[in-house]
Formats: sequence, structure tokens, C-alpha cells
Amino acid sequence: MESPQIINLPKILDKRGNLSFFEYPKQLPFEIARTYWIYDVPGGETRGSHAFMNQQEFIVALSGSFDVVLHDGEKEMRFSLNRSYYGLFIPNKYWRRMENFSTNSLALIVSDRAFDENDYIRDFNQFKTIRDER
Ligand code: TYD
Repeated sequence: MESPQIINLPKILDKRGNLSFFEYPKQLPFEIARTYWIYDVPGGETRGSHAFMNQQEFIVALSGSFDVVLHDGEKEMRFSLNRSYYGLFIPNKYWRRMENFSTNSLALIVSDRAFDENDYIRDFNQFKTIRDER
């Protein structure tokens, strides 16, 4: 999977409460190596603003809402996540930021790699150069 895309997740509707899930390889294009979550984001804050050399991610708004803004080196794409039954797949080498967090929003992020600061591209100009080399 080379492009960012929304992946719809199974929804098991139940009078007792609904249930959704994802697993590799049915819904997710990679095996999960790490899970983290972002919460208690103060109003107006932005997270992210970096890209990854190798890491791929899948982001679900488990609660509340936020926007994920992706940049492919030429243009921006905005994805609003506000339901827990779909998520956004982000391939490597996409600049991303997360913003417009609602009160009490909870972002679940799964990744195909362990944490590695060396995988981060934190300079936008360097990101553009890497993109142009593709
Ligand atoms: P960072 O990825 O820069 O946050 P964001 O992109 O959401 O703004 O991570 C913030 C800090 O947390 C940074 O010092 C690295 C650390 N961190 C870990 O130690 N392990 C992890 O899995 C993640 C995602 C971050």
C-alpha cells in the first residue's frame, strides 16, 4: 500500500455496545510492532510535524476527533478522524501533523517498527529533498 488511505474497520453492532477491531493482514497492511496513544491534548495544540524514513502507521480516533494533515512533498491532504470504526493508514515518507483535537480526544497509533529517533525526519526541507530523490 503506497498511498495514505482511510481503512474502514469491521463494526459489530450490539445492543450492549458496539465493537470494532483490526488485525494483520485483513485490515492492516503491516504487522504491529508498537502501539502508542495521544491524549489530554490542550486546545489548539499540534502534534507531529515530522515524517518517518521507514515507519508506517495507522491512526484511529478512539474518542473525540482530530485532523491528520499529510504532505507528500507537493501538496497537503487533510483527513478528519472522528469515529472509532475507521482509521488512516500512513505510508513512510509522508510529512504529518495532527491538529484540531477535541476535548477528551484519544488517538490510537500503531506502527510497524519499534521507536527509533533516527527514523524521524524533523526538518521539512530535508523531507522535501528526500522526496525529490524518490
Ligand atoms: P513524537 O513522536 O515527537 O511526538 P509527536 O509526533 O506526537 O508530536 O514523540 C514525543 C516524544 O516521545 C519524543 O521524545 C519521543 C518519545 N516517544 C517514545 O519514547 N516512544 C514512542 O513510541 C513515541 C511515539 C515517542
